[in-house]
Amino acid sequence: MKILVTGGAGYIGGTVATILLKAGHSVTVLDNLRHSRREEIPAGVSFVEADVADRPRVESLLRDLQPEGVLHFAALIEAGESMQKPEIYFRNNTASTLALLEAMLATGVDKLVFSSTAAVYGEPKTTPIEETADLAPTNAYGESKLLVEQMLRWFHQIHGLRYASLRYFNVAGAVGGRGEAHEPETHLIPLILDVALGRREKIFIFGDDYPTPDGTCIRDYIHVADLADAHILALQALSGCDRMIYNLGNGNGFSVREVIESARRVTGHPIPAEVKPRRAGDPARLVASSAQAKSKLGWQPKHPDLDDIMASAWAWHQQRYTR
Ligand code: UFG
Repeated sequence: MKILVTGGAGYIGGTVATILLKAGHSVTVLDNLRHSRREEIPAGVSFVEADVADRPRVESLLRDLQPEGVLHFAALIEAGESMQKPEIYFRNNTASTLALLEAMLATGVDKLVFSSTAAVYGEPKTTPIEETADLAPTNAYGESKLLVEQMLRWFHQIHGLRYASLRYFNVAGAVGGRGEAHEPETHLIPLILDVALGRREKIFIFGDDYPTPDGTCIRDYIHVADLADAHILALQALSGCDRMIYNLGNGNGFSVREVIESARRVTGHPIPAEVKPRRAGDPARLVASSAQAKSKLGWQPKHPDLDDIMASAWAWHQQRYTR
């Protein structure tokens, strides 16, 4: 298949692009390189340096390429930042995706796999979260993605867009020489591993007064390789099924303190931690039911164990500064 991957120089998009290439697909990556580096463009893809919001550029690319489908990863992803600068989330996530959808419509490209998020649920009433749960984001990041989901529904109904919206829980781990790194880094696991490497003195725990057993926030960590598998299954399934919305997680919740404990086990480093005030917009507990993705896509996570996820992240993290 010929596939366009937006954000394909990033952590998740780059991992999926690499796996698609290995499976023999022809991959074009579109990325503005604002949050990733040129060296991170997967070897073997055709690369276009442009912003998803650049409608004429994207439209002419789609017209020339005529891909089977678009995997749309390009986005801002930090819930904390979105509570300080919501405007950049609505512009880069919501408005940019509208430009992409218009370009797809104009060129007859009708299949999209969209990177949605657990943040669309906000603070869930019950756990594990099913796709039918209330959608009430507690941060502007989640809202910016939920607005896209709503646009997708109308593009589907009115224009026949076929789409899969995949609601990721907390993606972690490394595969094929690619691992989790953001600039600047705000994510829990890479920050903890920086402490283990001696690049930071300690990890700050954002709040220990949440209504959870140890007071810290609980998240569902999923290996990036398992997430990648789900994208490929979803893209294939779009030939038969025209609208899908699936959670992608392992169904196991780990608190911030438990994640730090896992890193201590895996790295052998004491990893000092200090409690700080809550970060704005963080829900207390996000744990997925992925029963739908399993039954409808035949998806089965191969690396559900947190220590295994941590070990793959640690192996990659140790060599990332020596590359
Ligand atoms: N945390 C800390 N200290 C830190 C960093 C994070 O205590 O230095 C805490 C956060 O407050 C949160 C948890 O660790 O409770 C996880 O935080 P991350 O920043 O690693 O991830 P988020 O849960 O905020 O968000 C991530 C992705 C989103 C995605 C979401 C889905 O960044 O894109 O998972 O659950 F939507």
